[in-house]
Order: sequence, then C-alpha cells, then structure tokens
Amino acid sequence: MAVKPMPAGVEVKMRRMRFELDDSVPVHWFRGNAFLTHFFNAMSSVFPEGEKFFIDSVRHFEPRIDDPLLRDQIREFSRQEGHHTYQHRLLNDLVERQGFPMKSYDQALAGVFNWIRANYSPLQQLAFTAAIEHFTAMLGDQLLRHPELLEGADPRVAPLWSWHAVEETEHKAVAFDVYQRMGGDYRTRAGLLAKLTVPFLSILHRIQADLLGRDPSPRSRFDSAIGLNYLWGRPGFLRRLLPDYLRYYRPSFHPWQIDNSALIERWKADNRHYVQGGAGAVPVSGFAAA
Ligand SMILES: [Fe+2]
Ligand SMILES: [Fe+2]
Repeated sequence: MAVKPMPAGVEVKMRRMRFELDDSVPVHWFRGNAFLTHFFNAMSSVFPEGEKFFIDSVRHFEPRIDDPLLRDQIREFSRQEGHHTYQHRLLNDLVERQGFPMKSYDQALAGVFNWIRANYSPLQQLAFTAAIEHFTAMLGDQLLRHPELLEGADPRVAPLWSWHAVEETEHKAVAFDVYQRMGGDYRTRAGLLAKLTVPFLSILHRIQADLLGRDPSPRSRFDSAIGLNYLWGRPGFLRRLLPDYLRYYRPSFHPWQIDNSALIERWKADNRHYVQGGAGAVPVSGFAAA
C-alpha cells in the first residue's frame, strides 16, 4: 500500500532540549490542582517503557524497508522517542523526589510491555504501536490546537508537553507507514486499537488514582470535579478525542488525512528563537538547547 506523503514543511527530526525541571517546581504543578497534576504525572509515568516498546517494534522492521525516506524517518522517530523518554524521566525523577513511586509504576509497565512482547507477533506489536501512536498524536493535536489546555501549568513543565506534542505530530505516521509497508492488515490494526483502548485508559486512571491516594498535601475538595470537567466536560481534553479516535477504524484511514501541520508551524513560530538558532540558541521561556 502506498505511503501518504507528509504535508510540505513537516519532517521527522529530533531536537535536543533542556527544560528547567528543578526542585522548585511545586507538587501540584498543574493549576495547583492535584487531580490534573496527577493525570499528567500518570501519562508521564507511561512514556519511558511505552516509548521503548514503540522504538523496538518499529526498528524490528527497519532492515526490511527499502524506501530511504522511511528508513530515515524510522531512525529519527527512534531518536525523538528516545529523547522524550530522557526528558520524561527527568520529570518522573522530580515527581519521585516529591514523594511518589514513579519508578515502581515504570517497573510494573515494563512487565506489561514484556507480556505483550511475549504474546504477540512483531507485526501485531507494530500494530499496537501504531494504535498507541494514534492516541499520542490525538493528545498532541489537542494540546497544540487548544494552547489554553496548558494554561496555568508551571512554566518550567508546560514546554515539555508542547514540545512532545509537536514531535508526536511530526512522527504520527511512521509506525503506521511501516505497518502498511510490511503488509499489515486492516482487521489487526483496527482490532488492536479496540482491544487496547480500555486497558490503556484504565492503566492511566489507576496510576492517577494511586498518586492521588498517596498525596498527603492539602488540596481543594473541588479538585476532582474541576479535573473531571477538564477531561470530559469543558474543555474536554479527552472527550474531544472521540471523532479522531473513530476515524482510525476506517479501512482507508491514514494519520495525515488529519492535516494538522499548521499547528507544528505555529509552535515553531512561537519558539522561533530556539528553532532557528539550533544548538547554542538563546533559551526562550523554558526552552534551551542542551
Ligand atoms: Fe514520544
Ligand atoms: Fe510517538
């Protein structure tokens, strides 16, 4: 099956970043809201083991890919994901120092991904990756399309999420394209998204609930109501994923049918100083060349 070309101006290329994640970041770094902070912390806890799995499942097929552009994208996809892991580990270490067992979640998640490795074929594992990448692309799209979603987040932490959102958008089709090139079929691709949706959301929810249960700091009794409204009401960070989530079930779906490349351009324009300057550029609001 043909690979749909990426929109003009989009490329998969790793950026080396440095964020100022030091111990002055407050425990409730997202709007002072425990529920929402731990929702984002739970997402962050999933990335290191998740992204390792994504890299492994895509790289497995690299020797069989003839297209030099797609091979290059596989390498840059791996470098982007590897650097996301590095940066999220720094955030996770910070949250661990604040008194939460992020390393234990990491170990539990390693068990989950090892179970998938042991029980699914390489092509099925790639379909898992393509499906979860659809989730990360949808989440990234929301954060870039509605910058107000990150308003009120600590200014040292928010740029980590918007940068991650941009790179998830840039590489959203890589696992999908490799899956198509390797002859992956529609039923497996759609079936695995259906199969993993509830477990994926429930793992996130369980980690968030565990973090909230262990959080001894005083907090507003309205935190959870405000947080649930943020996710499922208005603005509805998760609620608004539904239309794009369903598009994945179309047999003709391709990630770049949702052309959100303008959001990447907007992020680049907003961070022009960093992007144009490259290594050694003057840092802007939380960004710095490492
Ligand atoms: Fe990532
Ligand atoms: Fe990704």
